[in-house]
Amino acid sequence: MKLTWFGHSCFLLEGSKSVLIDPFFASGSVPVDPDLVAVTHGHADHIGETMNLKKKTIAINEIAKYLAQKGLDTVAMNIGGSIIEDGIGFTMTPAIHSSWLEQEGFGFYGGLAAGYVIAMDGIKIYHAGDTALFSDMQLIRDLYRPDVALLPVGGRYTMGPDEAMVAAQYIGAKLVIPMHYNTWPIIEQDMLPFKHAVERTTGMAVLVLSPGEGIELNPEEFSR
Ligand code: NI
Ligand code: MN
Repeated sequence: MKLTWFGHSCFLLEGSKSVLIDPFFASGSVPVDPDLVAVTHGHADHIGETMNLKKKTIAINEIAKYLAQKGLDTVAMNIGGSIIEDGIGFTMTPAIHSSWLEQEGFGFYGGLAAGYVIAMDGIKIYHAGDTALFSDMQLIRDLYRPDVALLPVGGRYTMGPDEAMVAAQYIGAKLVIPMHYNTWPIIEQDMLPFKHAVERTTGMAVLVLSPGEGIELNPEEFSR
């Protein structure tokens, strides 16, 4: 499976199918054509280009309903639930954050904010969405055993690096990839101290990607 980060919280997973998570592109252009889109919550920096992509979109009930009304093909689920869509497993996990659909006027309630554990081609990726640190991340480890954790580290609206270090330990994934930072000055963070601290104190690796950069993930590297 190939994982590509497009900056902020937007990741493309390409394997037997392709899944685009939180399709917000700071550049404005959309360089991908995925099979599926998965949205963690309603904020504009996550729902992003969902409406323009017009792909089958996985989201929490409230957002799915809103998108369906706009003519999108949607797959609704809710926190704690798991589905298999096009052979790919999606479990919707809790996130401590708010959610709001900002598209029209004052906007709409977007249900709860969420994360996903996505299982494809023998690899499990945990995308935490926007969230504070919460100790039930240990349950995500115990129940789903993610191989890779995509964690917000920008602070202000989500965890910062200090909390994300604890999150990384709770989740116990072999590989941690930081997200939701440096998109704008208000969430600017230096990832080097975070990387060094996590790698010094745990057996995990922290991979700091540049926007547009990808990595090939091999299931054998993650065999337990
Ligand atoms: Ni948000
Ligand atoms: Mn956000």
